[in-house]
Amino acid sequence: VSLLIVYHSQSGGTTALARAAYVGAQSAADTLPIHLLAAPAVDAAAVRAARGLIIASPENFGYMAGLMKDFFDRCFYPCETFMAGKPYATLVCAGNDGTGATHAIDRIITGWRMKKAHPGVIARRIGGAAGSARGELDPADIASAGEVGALIAAGLEAGIF
Ligand SMILES: Cc1cc2nc3c(=O)[nH]c(=O)nc-3n(C[C@H](O)[C@H](O)[C@H](O)COP(=O)(O)O)c2cc1C
Repeated sequence: VSLLIVYHSQSGGTTALARAAYVGAQSAADTLPIHLLAAPAVDAAAVRAARGLIIASPENFGYMAGLMKDFFDRCFYPCETFMAGKPYATLVCAGNDGTGATHAIDRIITGWRMKKAHPGVIARRIGGAAGSARGELDPADIASAGEVGALIAAGLEAGIF
């Protein structure tokens, strides 16, 4: 029973968002365990045991990263009857867009009938070429990721979800 943050990152941007969410959640939680796990390391049992999820992915080719899709491919049906009503939020790191990955994750999680606890954070790299891993993350986006972690952790501890 925990808050589970599932992430994948190739060039570090999503890692920064996921870590910020982890730190934010820890600062807001007294007793709730917070787990930060790379997508390939997450199995259905870990997802079922979670009381809330944060999904953090890069946008690649207008969609979530392949390893995040693999996570859903492996875990969707084994978790189908365990997720309804639990809160979730998305964190997406992108070169110039991020909406495709966000919508793709939302669409799959609709099938789990989870509760969207936050509109989601999209962190677009600043100053890089479109679609590249160059450019900096806006500190405000990293702060927003921290707030998402804090929001869900505090809400779970307070029993408001
Ligand atoms: C193969 C590939 C495809 C990408 N496709 C998109 C895209 O469709 N839209 C976008 O906004 N950024 C795109 N990007 C840029 C990444 O989303 C961006 O570099 C992001 O920071 C990657 O996250 P990461 O640092 O966690 O790996 C792409 C990057 C790669 C490597």
